[in-house]
Amino acid sequence: MIRTASQRAYSEALRYIPGGVDSPVRALRAVGETPLFIRRAQGSVLTDIDNNRLTDYCLSWGVFLLGHGERHVRRAVRRAVRAGTSYGIPCEGETHLARAINGHFPSMERVRLVNSGTEAVMSAIRLARGFTGRDLVVKFAGCYHGHVDHMLVAAGSGVATLPMASSKGVPEDFVRHTACLPFNDPDAVRRFFEQRGEQVAAVIVEPVPANMGVVRPREGFLELLRQVTAQSGALLVFDEVITGLRLSAGGAQQLFGVTPDLTTLGKIIGGGFPAAAFGGRADIMAMLAPDGPVYQAGTLSGNPVAMAAGLATIRRLEAPGFYDDLQRRCDRFYARVREAIEGRDITLSSAGPMFTLFFGCGRAASFDDVLGADTERFARYFRRMLERGIYVSPSQTEASFICSAHTDSQLDAFVDALRQSIL
Ligand SMILES: Cc1ncc(COP(=O)(O)O)c(C=O)c1O
Repeated sequence: MIRTASQRAYSEALRYIPGGVDSPVRALRAVGETPLFIRRAQGSVLTDIDNNRLTDYCLSWGVFLLGHGERHVRRAVRRAVRAGTSYGIPCEGETHLARAINGHFPSMERVRLVNSGTEAVMSAIRLARGFTGRDLVVKFAGCYHGHVDHMLVAAGSGVATLPMASSKGVPEDFVRHTACLPFNDPDAVRRFFEQRGEQVAAVIVEPVPANMGVVRPREGFLELLRQVTAQSGALLVFDEVITGLRLSAGGAQQLFGVTPDLTTLGKIIGGGFPAAAFGGRADIMAMLAPDGPVYQAGTLSGNPVAMAAGLATIRRLEAPGFYDDLQRRCDRFYARVREAIEGRDITLSSAGPMFTLFFGCGRAASFDDVLGADTERFARYFRRMLERGIYVSPSQTEASFICSAHTDSQLDAFVDALRQSIL
């Protein structure tokens, strides 16, 4: 695969941008590569500036469930741009998107729209602290909630691939208010709540973590979180930035039947534009300015173009049978992947249209399990898939994604490439 134009572009980027990228995982260091620079993306296909065509299983880190540039979304965006690109004054698109979100996530009785998942989490945590009058927040090792200071403790995603426990620049004082527990360990949760439950403002969790690779919650684990938070007066926050509108129209909370107090959404709800949201119980959300004393704001929040893209996306996902069809195709794909990896010490972990192949760690039920995976083998797999025109998410501790634009023959080609890549 010729990469000369991307390599030139990368050298130029390095002169002006730290590490040449605006988000660390894009540097591809975890897989011993340098970044591809993309010229265009359409459907399930990326074209880089060397004119290599790649089937995309990263999909802007889970932004696209319909594929890139879906025509209804494009049309809505074109119409929105003609009407102006930012007002800083309310527009009806904000209410339309908030209403659509509320329709799918009834627990989000009130919704505030923001620009990124990080911002949604940061705001939800501030709100939980303001509402409860407590400081302590509980997170789980390997879950990633954006680059919020007090969430950069044993964080997954790109942070997990960097040679640092969390991040420099985060004051010890902040981290003091974050407790980190092992995911899928009910005893650790019970013990912690027996001792410190009264101090906890919120438990935040990716209900199906995708940022340590896909790890499914053990049966009863989310229910336990609901129970201990309710008993101790803490709030339960589901970070559904990845799982929301992905695992079902109503996210993981609908799938597992566990209702959080607050939810964060991002990625899919922006339709490829910077939009995210947090929301939840009306009495909690009433604490937000201008109604209440918890401050939160944003110049570009509720941006009209992002609202139009998000709403157009949700409308397409509401087509009858959308999730069932996609799941059927995923199930067929996963069955073929399982055949391909049989007897090879590779574990397929999946939830709906997201999956991770773990190399050499046996089961994948906790952050400790996945940290035992062989990242060198993963890197080899990534590079070999790339040579065969397939772009999977470039880290062992990330999920890859399937969208409705992937054709059956592309999914079959993935399995063929996989067979050749794990020889
Ligand atoms: C579960 C989860 N929460 C929060 C975030 C942060 O979102 P953003 O990158 O839009 O700030 C991410 C990003 O990947 C995420 O996966």
